[in-house]
Amino acid sequence: MLVISTVNGARARRAELACTGRRLAFVPTMGALHEGHLALVRRGLGLADEVWASVFVNPTQFAPGEDFDRYPRDLERDRGLLEKAGATMLFAPSTKEIYPRPSATVLDVPQLADGLCGAFRPGHFQGVALVVAKLLNIVQPHIALFGAKDWQQAVVIRRMAADLCSPVRIEICPTEREEDGLARSSRNAYLAPEERRAATVLHRTLELATAAVRAGERSGAALEAKAAAEVAGEPLARLQYVAAVDPERLTPLATISNHVLVALAVHVGATRLIDNVLVEVS
Ligand code: PAF
Repeated sequence: MLVISTVNGARARRAELACTGRRLAFVPTMGALHEGHLALVRRGLGLADEVWASVFVNPTQFAPGEDFDRYPRDLERDRGLLEKAGATMLFAPSTKEIYPRPSATVLDVPQLADGLCGAFRPGHFQGVALVVAKLLNIVQPHIALFGAKDWQQAVVIRRMAADLCSPVRIEICPTEREEDGLARSSRNAYLAPEERRAATVLHRTLELATAAVRAGERSGAALEAKAAAEVAGEPLARLQYVAAVDPERLTPLATISNHVLVALAVHVGATRLIDNVLVEVS
């Protein structure tokens, strides 16, 4: 597997690949890879001839006081995992390479980015949109893959790419989970053993919400109240938000008719975790 750290190097390799006509899938990451990322690589291999990945801890999507400095970094481990999963190129640029100067361009998708996590992390999705737009411009993949755990992120990116007439297809792939249901996340590494046990409350809450919809609950507010009560039952957990929204528009659903996305953010100790479930009403 090639490791490239410069924009020019990635562009040159991309030009060579273009001559072969091979289709390219791309998995952007911030490293600290886990099974969720590797599942995206494997899915990419089923959709394209080659999969490239990037590892870049993007400073513009972290607010002051968030975990940018302590975000886990181990490029050698990530390289090995990506190679084993079948990726053929790892793009691992420095901050200077991606941001040679502060960006004067702001990419905002406020309709989708301002609610849910965006309400608690102002500017976060602007940073995500900016870096993903840069990476897509550099790599020019046919397909880019994102995990459904970060549903709002994926929907923001899909809309940004469509609005910018980017030819890339954005593929949202199922959330990978631990055996006890906890969504795989690089931030799970922050959890102390007791917190790790308590973190199962997120999945439990989403299962409860799913069961409630299947049993006929059609009020978004009642669903949110049930979910909030379940999180409140876990002493180590503190609910930041739970919302029953339209999965495409991310707007609150007073009445659930076709489908509902139940999304939540919970602090377990000092660690903020997110998860969601999409429930189809049959
Ligand atoms: O989901 C992530 O790891 C990041 O937000 C992304 C998409 C790689 C952009 O930095």
